[in-house]
Amino acid sequence: MNINNEIVSVKCVDFTFDGQGLCKSKNNRTIFVPGLLINEEAMVEILYRKKDYDIGKIKELTLKSNYRINPRCKCATSCGGCSFQNLDYQQELIYKKNVAIKTLNNIAGLNIIDTKIHGMADPYYYRNKIQVPFGKDKQRRLVYGFYKFKSHDIVPINECVIQDKVHVKILSTIKELMKIYQIEPYNEDKRIGTLRHCLIRVGKVSKEVMVTLVVTNNKFKNKNKFSKELTKRCEEITTLILNINDRKTNVILGEKEEILFGKGYIEDTLLNTRFRISSKSFYQVNHNQCEVLYSLAFQLANLKKDDVILDAYSGIGTIGLTSARFCKKVVGFEVVSDAIKDAKLNAKINDIRNAYYYNKDANDFEFKEKFDVVFVDPPRKGLDEKFINILLSQKPKKIIYISCDVGTLSRDLKILKCSYNIKDIQFVDMFPRTYHIETVCSLELI
Ligand SMILES: C[S@@+](CC[C@H](N)C(=O)[O-])C[C@H]1O[C@@H](n2cnc3c(N)ncnc32)[C@H](O)[C@@H]1O
Repeated sequence: MNINNEIVSVKCVDFTFDGQGLCKSKNNRTIFVPGLLINEEAMVEILYRKKDYDIGKIKELTLKSNYRINPRCKCATSCGGCSFQNLDYQQELIYKKNVAIKTLNNIAGLNIIDTKIHGMADPYYYRNKIQVPFGKDKQRRLVYGFYKFKSHDIVPINECVIQDKVHVKILSTIKELMKIYQIEPYNEDKRIGTLRHCLIRVGKVSKEVMVTLVVTNNKFKNKNKFSKELTKRCEEITTLILNINDRKTNVILGEKEEILFGKGYIEDTLLNTRFRISSKSFYQVNHNQCEVLYSLAFQLANLKKDDVILDAYSGIGTIGLTSARFCKKVVGFEVVSDAIKDAKLNAKINDIRNAYYYNKDANDFEFKEKFDVVFVDPPRKGLDEKFINILLSQKPKKIIYISCDVGTLSRDLKILKCSYNIKDIQFVDMFPRTYHIETVCSLELI
């Protein structure tokens, strides 16, 4: 059907899980409209037609919500990073909490009526990490930014109100220097060009800044001059790393690295514990909310001096090492070897002698000892099946499950609840203005 210029009148009745307006037209057809808020009405242009629904774009807002606010950023609707910049923050929190509760009740079969969500006092400029691709736009101009939803087209960003302010300064300087030193961005279709991605990470407490340039090969023309000029123009940078990724892959980082400037890692402090973070290691993106998250996890764990704890999916050991002083022994494991190196060094620099970290995959990890409390903090895909079975057979007294994906958390809880009582579930808004949310759940052996 020709949908060119088709305009329909819609009412927004709900949000989708990822924060788009779920709308109905007069003839009750479902239309997803990014940026439309619940109870708003609008004239909408149909962009795509699918069998059961359409995707539309607001042409004219005809009934405005009292909770609508002006987005702070010009690319709030185009870059695809934020879903809720046009919504009052308190309403965003209520909405995200309700969606998460609904998911847990529906998938895990729980019966949560209400619980707490811990929001931020200032929900902007919180992200300590950015990773952006470099490329060319249709006019062959050099750009960097975020990938447009479900595509590899880059939406250029000149500002970002959820990122640390230093990120945008460094990225625009890299772009200027690429022109001066004739560094071509990588073209993934033709597999030519040099610079693929840039990653920047800031220690919110230490103020140290790590920049990782991901390049296709190590023949980076003028790399030393480039490095000298970049670190001169951006004095905030404390270390600059060249990461070589020659593969045809969506995985951002390659194996090989070369330190161009500084010590090759940054440090930061979380809950009075110092952490060394290297470029391939995971580190939570919202420092202040991470402290809220861990404090809540420890409160729910109620650790005792003689507890032996497992820090599963440990990253650089942040959960285990911040709790090591309150228990007898910590064992941790993680699949990324650089993160485990960091975790071992982090134990040393904090003079923690009761923590032991292993480079292991969750599917291969066998418990040698009996754990009183197990902290699990897996990636979005949730717990590995084999690991759930190990937990069910070893029966630790308590499990504290930290999750960044309420869908996979619900799937795992449905299994775990056969042997565990779910004592408490709370949410921490680690990612304000986006539809993502972090959940902490405490389980006690039945
Ligand atoms: C959400 S992060 C949590 C890290 C850490 N707990 C923190 O808060 O900083 C998940 C971690 O699980 C690791 N991971 C992913 N799959 C794994 C697996 N199969 N076995 C062990 N670790 C894995 C990732 O490398 C990542 O460091």
